Parts: sequence; C-alpha cells; structure tokens
Amino acid sequence: MNEHVIQLSYLAAAILFILSLRWLNHPRTARRGVAAGIAGMAAAIVGTLMAPEIVDYKWIVAALVVGTAAGVPLSWVPLTAVPQRTALSHAFGGLAAGLVGCAKYAMWLDQGQLTSFRTGAIALEVILGFLTFTGSLMAAGKLQEIVPTRPITYRNQNLVNLSLLALAIVAGVYLSINPQFWPAFVAIIVLSLVFGVLLIIPIGGADMPTVISLLNSYAGLSAVAMGFVLGNKLLITAGALDGSSGLILSIIMCRAMNRSFTNVLFGAFGQVQASAQLGEAKTVKSATSQDVADILTNADRVVIIPGYGMAVAQAQHRVHELYDQLTKRGVDVKFAIHPVAGRMPGHMNVLLAEAEIPYESLVEMDDINPELPQTDVCLVVGANDVVNPAARHDKGSPIYGMPIIDADKAKAVIAIKRSMNPGFAGIENELYYDDKTLMAFGDAKQVLGDVVKAVAGETASVQ
Ligand code: TAP
Repeated sequence: MNEHVIQLSYLAAAILFILSLRWLNHPRTARRGVAAGIAGMAAAIVGTLMAPEIVDYKWIVAALVVGTAAGVPLSWVPLTAVPQRTALSHAFGGLAAGLVGCAKYAMWLDQGQLTSFRTGAIALEVILGFLTFTGSLMAAGKLQEIVPTRPITYRNQNLVNLSLLALAIVAGVYLSINPQFWPAFVAIIVLSLVFGVLLIIPIGGADMPTVISLLNSYAGLSAVAMGFVLGNKLLITAGALDGSSGLILSIIMCRAMNRSFTNVLFGAFGQVQASAQLGEAKTVKSATSQDVADILTNADRVVIIPGYGMAVAQAQHRVHELYDQLTKRGVDVKFAIHPVAGRMPGHMNVLLAEAEIPYESLVEMDDINPELPQTDVCLVVGANDVVNPAARHDKGSPIYGMPIIDADKAKAVIAIKRSMNPGFAGIENELYYDDKTLMAFGDAKQVLGDVVKAVAGETASVQ
C-alpha cells in the first residue's frame, strides 16, 4: 500500500515539475509555474518520507530545521542578488549529492554490497556533486565580489584543469573495477573539489550568470546519478529536467551574447581588454527632467529600453507611472526587452511584471528592432551594453557580435543613468556621445519620479 502511495506521489511530482517548467515559460503563467513547482516538491518530499528505509525521523527533522534556517534568509535577498543566491542553492544541491554519494559508498563498502555499476554511478555523482559545490561557491563569491571578479590566469591553465578532471575520471573508472579500493574514492573527492575552484578562477565576473546556469545543469546530472545510486526514478526525472533546462538556458544566454561555450569557459571575458577608444574627448548633452517630459509628451511613439540600472534603482513602478501618463495622452509606448538585459535571464520581464505593466507592451529585441527607425524617442533606463552600437561594428570590443537593441536608429534617444560609467562589459558607449542623445543624469527612480510629475503637470495644464 505504502509503495503505491510513494510511486503515485512521485508520478504526481514528475508531472508537476514538467508543467512547472512549461508554465514558467511565459510571464502570464509564471506564477502558476512556481506554484506547480512547490506542489511537485511537496509531493516528492511526502513520498520520500514514507519510504520504508526511513526508520528514524529525528535526523530528518534536524536537517529540516537547519535547511529552513538557512533557506528563509536566503529568500530575502534583493532581486539584484538573485544570481549569487542561485549559485549558493546550486552549491548546496551539489554538496547534498556528493554527501549522499559518500554515505552510500561507506554503507555499501561496509555491507560488502558494492557492485561495479553502483560504484561507477557513485563516482559520477561525487565528481559532479563536489565540483558543482566548490564551483558554485566560487561563482557566488565572484558575483558578491568577495572573490576577485577578474579572471585569474596562468600558463597551461586549461591543461592543468583538464588533467585534474581526467585524473578524477580515471580514478572513478579504477574504483568501479575495484570498488573496495577506497583511497581512489578519497582521491575523487579531493580532485573534484579542487577542479570546481580551478574551473571558475579563470572566468570573469561578467560570465558568471552563464557559468551558474551551466553549473545548474551539472547539479542536475549529479542528481540523475544519485537517482541511479538510490534507485529513485523521481530523482532521475527531476535531475534530467534540471540538467537539460540549465543547459538550454546557458545556450540561450550564449547566443544572446553571441559567445560560444568555449569562449565563456576559456575566453577570460572581463579581463582588461583593448576596447576601441573613442579618440578625442567628446561631449555629451544633458537634459533636465522637464526637458525629458517635454520631449516624451510631444512624441507619437516611444520605446522604453530597461536595463540593469532599472533593477538597481528599483524604478519599475516609476516606469509604470510614466507608461500610464503617456498612454493617457495617446502616446504609443512599448518596452524593448533584450534577452540578457540585467543580470539574469528574464530579469526585465520579472521587474516589469512585478510593476504590472501589460505583457502585450513587452516586445522582444528581434521584433522591436525593425520598428525603431520609425520611433520618435528611445528612452533608455539604466541600460548600457545592450544598446551599445560598438557591438555591431567594433571588432576590438569585447561585446562585438552581441545582438543589441538598435536604439541609435530611433529619431531621438534619452538615456537615464547616474554618470558616464560603463556597464557590465566595462566599455564606453558611443550612443551616449551621439548628437541625437540626451543624458538625464541621476538615479533612475528619482529621475523618472520627476519626469512623471512634470508630465502630469503638463497633462493637467492642457485639460
Ligand atoms: P549594463 O551594461 O550593466 O549597464 C547598466 C547601467 O545602469 C550602468 O551603465 C549604470 O551606469 C546604470 N545604473 C546603475 N545603477 C543605476 C541607477 N541606480 N540609476 C540609473 N542607472 C543606473 O546593463 P545592461 O545594458 O542591462 O546589460 C547587461 C549586461 O550584463 C550585458 O553586458 C550582458 O551581457 C551582461 N550579462 C547579463 C546576463 C543576463 S542573463 N541578463 C548574463 C551574463 C551577462 P551608472 O553607473 O552611470 O549609473
């Protein structure tokens, strides 16, 4: 009877996980996707707690308390810190997989039940789990700037790294042939932990989000191996979903930045690079909030391009107010969404959805670009790299080839940011020196608040 209930709850969990991923694909259904994911995890936990192998619940309760104590504060981090928080979650996932592998190896070694298949699966689980653990910790450290964000490189680095991984795999193969030879198991653990650190050291902070989603797929694969070790079909299904979705996400991010995997993993992006200098000192034109309001209210078509700065300033609600004010005056307002604007996939969609901006107004980069030459004003809110025209023509630029939103093709551009500081890629943006561009300097929330007031004032005086 118990076994039936367990298998049914696992089946329900697997279905809910698949539906969750499906629904997370669109902002309209994303909340449902989150709820389905939570329900799936609850079903999985309930099923697992009924397993006949569990004879004592006290350690499980202790783990629950510790996990909750660590997990709840992690959920309080601001949205801008979600990438490093995600990296920490992967680190814990990897650690859990590695430790389960260790426990199973010790148990079966003691009971004389180690087969080659079991040992091979454990070796795979431990390699992937522990390298995900230290790799994700390093990635979180780089994003939080606790660890130096610049790539640390030395001669023959890739050779050293790949040799370490090869040694761990050789030790794993040897162990599956001689399961009793525990020193090989210890070697696998040490090599994997060191490899995780060395894998991340040469990668710049700029590539961490992509690396994190790659580590996500390793964590998924280690869960698959753990599923084989424990004979748990749900772990195999959930791990495969996790592994493949992480990989797909990394591919999407690489494409959106026009980078290859090898370039991300071995390209040392984020090092001080020789970017094209702008030559002679150029001047920029600045505008007051009143100027911005005048230009926007006189436009027929406005495209708002949000970026990381909007997230930092938490300006999405002011953006919504501006959207309301302008649409009330008959201005056609759309949002141009770049796939890697911000610091995580879907960052802008999440913020704009939080501010309840209608989904229909959010237009993907490829669809909005052809409309920009007919657009009166592009209003850039805290974006930089994703509107940098150097990506189209400057072969020396680290972002060369990255698809961008062609803001420079609009009739006029207004950019809201605090200074002339560069964005994530660390390079200047020629758009801000363009004759058609006006800079509204200041914190995006503050500036937009003033612009909204000015537009409201103009609207009131017209009525
Ligand atoms: P960035 O190029 O990073 O530019 C953000 C700009 O926002 C900065 O230039 C900054 O200028 C401004 N800013 C910061 N705080 C502000 C505030 N409080 N008010 C107003 N402006 C503020 O952002 P982007 O255009 O969104 O591009 C994203 C970058 O991240 C790309 O290079 C992309 O490849 C990289 N990346 C993204 C992802 C994902 S998945 N999204 C993954 C990997 C890498 P000031 O300091 O002058 O204000």
